[in-house]
Amino acid sequence: MSKLSEILRGQSYGVVFTPVNTVLAITAFFFLYYLKQRFFGPLRHLPGPWWSHYTQFPDTLHTFSGNRSLYIHSLHEKYGDTLRLGPNTVGVTGQEGVKTIFGGGSKRPFHKEPVITEMLNFGRTFEETMAGTADPVSSSKRRMMYGNAYSRGSVLNMQDIYQKCFMNFIARIEESRKNSQDGIIGVTPYFRAMAYDVLTEAAFGGLCKGTEYGTDAVGIMDNVMNANLFQWYFGTFIYNLTMKIPWKKLDWIRSKEEYLQATQEVVSVYQSNVKAHPDRVRKDLLGNLILNNLDPKKLYHEAYGNIWAGTDTTTNTLGVLMLAIVRHPRIYKNLVAELDRAFPPGEYVPFAPMELQKLETECPYLTCCIKECLRRYPLIPGPSPRIVPKEGTNINGWFVPGNATIFAQTYTTNHNAKIFPNPKMYIPERWQAGKETAEMKAMMTSFGSGPRICAGENLAMMELHCATALLFRNYVVSIPDGYDNDHVEFWITTPKGGSIFLRIEPREV
Ligand code: HEM
Repeated sequence: MSKLSEILRGQSYGVVFTPVNTVLAITAFFFLYYLKQRFFGPLRHLPGPWWSHYTQFPDTLHTFSGNRSLYIHSLHEKYGDTLRLGPNTVGVTGQEGVKTIFGGGSKRPFHKEPVITEMLNFGRTFEETMAGTADPVSSSKRRMMYGNAYSRGSVLNMQDIYQKCFMNFIARIEESRKNSQDGIIGVTPYFRAMAYDVLTEAAFGGLCKGTEYGTDAVGIMDNVMNANLFQWYFGTFIYNLTMKIPWKKLDWIRSKEEYLQATQEVVSVYQSNVKAHPDRVRKDLLGNLILNNLDPKKLYHEAYGNIWAGTDTTTNTLGVLMLAIVRHPRIYKNLVAELDRAFPPGEYVPFAPMELQKLETECPYLTCCIKECLRRYPLIPGPSPRIVPKEGTNINGWFVPGNATIFAQTYTTNHNAKIFPNPKMYIPERWQAGKETAEMKAMMTSFGSGPRICAGENLAMMELHCATALLFRNYVVSIPDGYDNDHVEFWITTPKGGSIFLRIEPREV
């Protein structure tokens, strides 16, 4: 008998690996693990389901079922504001938790969790982007480079450019409505093309247009994302080899390189313009990053990251907003009456641009509908996890040790019944002037909070205002029979079949 088989059979130690011994060894292992976690686990003192001492698997199952945030919310309802979700994972809610984790006003905001930063850097296939930087101090340096690209002032300054995007958008909707049966349209691709247009204008001078080239341009973004995933899973060597296979069906893998090449070309044109006329550079994201001398490679990865961060987020929020309004006839009626007052029949030219500032001042109910949609149906409802600094932290009267993963998920903060009574009801009126409180603002984390708050909030709010007003002022919108328009949550909320379907009928304007 060889030495190896002797060792495997345990003879050199006088132990024989019989089935009984193996079962005993496994049982002993699990028993010791049970004792260790139950009595010495770092989060043993926190409230939570029994399994969370040992595993986070039930949470993972819900992640894959697409209903994670609702599941975590149900656990918070059972266990309170502080919840052990896994052997090293804590969920918290309440104002103290939100402030501590998101770091509003704190000198030591928590770092983003590695799984999240890896995802936001497209699985390390990209240079580190602002969103994918763990450390808030480094990410704030990149944020400084953004300058005023997405500031409110810039969003207002670039209104003429953005209004062209909305005009293209409504023209595409009209075209599609005319060609459709009974006015039923899968609207999500059009919302996406619009968001994509606005983003490319804001990020890098309108590189290509989603609404002008149909949805193909948006499809390129999906291909780039899939190519990133491929490279992440199989590694750069296999990715490079696969790219060389001359098979048409693999064109999607090559699209990433094409995209990066196209972006590089735009960057070079920009760079020459900056050199020639630094005073005339458009103050969009790319212009600002070039002026701040960001390394070109980082630069186009940052631009792509922004397009990704700002396309489906706005698209799907717009879809959910449409549904929320249409499903509440009283709210629908109030909104349309307000739009008709601001843009009266006879004065308003059908499909004409609707300026943001006019909408904000003359249509406050529209703003309330949008804010309430963001609260009730947040696009990223689940955890945006952070890491507790090594000295640990105190939250809600509990000590959470260093290096634990911690989060305050948006669905739960947004549904805090003490701050938002009847939290599961869609009530735009709660945001009316004089009713909105400081607590409501602090606990509504749909765009995040603190130093890592969404960089594109102003842009997103502008899109939600202009696109919603255009649609409801020019059309009668309804949900066709047989279309339930369900959504599923895979980090961001997405329509189940890829699109929501609405009936869009002409309206006497
Ligand atoms: C309704 C639309 C949007 C929603 C609901 C949304 C939501 C969010 C949330 C919740 C975060 C913070 C995540 C965290 O704390 O880990 C975030 C971050 C970010 N968002 Fe948005 N977003 C939207 C639109 C946009 C747009 C239009 C842009 C681009 C212009 C954008 C760019 C970013 C960036 C760059 C970050 C990373 C910030 C950082 O890590 O410091 N978002 N967004």
